[in-house]
Amino acid sequence: MKESKIKIKWSNNNETYATVGDDWFSSAENAGIYIPTGCLTGSCGACEIDVNGETVRACISNIKGNKKCLLKVSLTTDPFW
Ligand code: FES
Repeated sequence: MKESKIKIKWSNNNETYATVGDDWFSSAENAGIYIPTGCLTGSCGACEIDVNGETVRACISNIKGNKKCLLKVSLTTDPFW
């Protein structure tokens, strides 16, 4: 199966490339971004990021492709953290 690279544009304007199934934390680290964590089980929301306008919990999801193969990511700000 051919793996296509997905371009990720981060909130600090860095760009990285990932493949489907890569985890968000190491990709963020490659871009110089630290995604905060809490529970690591998907329940607290500390690790939420915004991927093309959709909120994703980084600890329970992997990078998925989209038609354009470009993901725009920013950290969501949670007033409770
Ligand atoms: S670290 Fe708690 S939801 Fe991801």
